Amino acid sequence: MAAVLVSFTILAGATAASAQGHVSSDGWRSKVSRVTSPLPQDTISDDSIAKITHFDWRNVEGRSYVTADVQQHSPLYCGSCWVHGTIAALNDRIKIARKGRFPDIMLSRQAVMDCIPDPKNATAPPPGCMGGDAWMIHDYMAQQPISDETCQPYEARNRPEGCTPANQCRNCASPPDDKPNAPGKCFEVPNWVGYRVSEHGHLPPGDVFAMKKEIVARGPIVCSMIADDEFVYRYASNVERHGGVFVDTRHHTIKEVDHDIEIIGWEDEERNGGPSHWIARNSWGRFWGEGGYFRIGPIGENTLFIETDCAWAVPTFDELESALDGKWLGDYIHGRVRVPHSSRFSHRPRRSSLASENRV
Ligand SMILES: *[C@@H]1O[C@H](CO)[C@@H](O)[C@H](O)[C@H]1NC(C)=O
Repeated sequence: MAAVLVSFTILAGATAASAQGHVSSDGWRSKVSRVTSPLPQDTISDDSIAKITHFDWRNVEGRSYVTADVQQHSPLYCGSCWVHGTIAALNDRIKIARKGRFPDIMLSRQAVMDCIPDPKNATAPPPGCMGGDAWMIHDYMAQQPISDETCQPYEARNRPEGCTPANQCRNCASPPDDKPNAPGKCFEVPNWVGYRVSEHGHLPPGDVFAMKKEIVARGPIVCSMIADDEFVYRYASNVERHGGVFVDTRHHTIKEVDHDIEIIGWEDEERNGGPSHWIARNSWGRFWGEGGYFRIGPIGENTLFIETDCAWAVPTFDELESALDGKWLGDYIHGRVRVPHSSRFSHRPRRSSLASENRV
């Protein structure tokens, strides 16, 4: 028990502003956006969204459209919530846009940390674990591609060399025969599979209908919030008192906003005696909250400022689709190489069945 208390004290010491990694861009830069298609907030009527009393991307007609869960503070503490909330929404939006088809894509959180520049100071190192905001990632991906985790896994630290080609996509060679215990040399893979966003923007602050419309029409959104001690350390006891939903009773100010999370759905109906609430994914591990997820409400009361600052983006994945169409194959050293038109074969997995006639 003593050990737990000690570690809590250490953590609490770090929970000043932006402890989880959200750095607000309010006040020093207007938030950029790129909007080219009609917005769900304008095209879906209030009446029709009000009729959807519960929605959850983890279970849409029996299927989950969310990708794998990860943890921002392991193997090291890292203020990368802004990367996690934003990338989780993009991963899920890729899965949703592709109707759940193979493969699930996990964009490289480490490449985002190493490559997204400090918007206030172009000569400063990329902020990474020092925190940032969702629009920084959306804006970058509107101009440049990001690789996936197979190119560069998460290390929970700012790599000192920054956005080098090998930090965007790498492979590592085996050690020489005469030194089998030496580390293999890592090298840049030049032709990796990149992902971008075609448009992105912000939702009007406090507009819960706009939030719901965006979630239903195009997928999860990333929102900032306050991760106060009650939420971080006492989530379980809070929801036990409030019918399974985190309810806040304190007075907060917007300056305390320090965290970014992904909202994947909501419940309007009272369930287990709790109030209406958002369903969200956190980035603190399966062991935190509701298996890594949480419920917070009531909807419309801006609990912990969760309805004030939400962003969305539309991901694109043409290079992945062209691989599945057989337009390229992968090389150990160079990455993807073009396949001549005459020798293209589809790489899309063929539909199979467990029915007995298929097993003959
Ligand atoms: C920008 O970053 C560089 C490198 O870290 C630093 O030397 C410089 O003082 C910074 N400029 C401002 C205006 O903060």
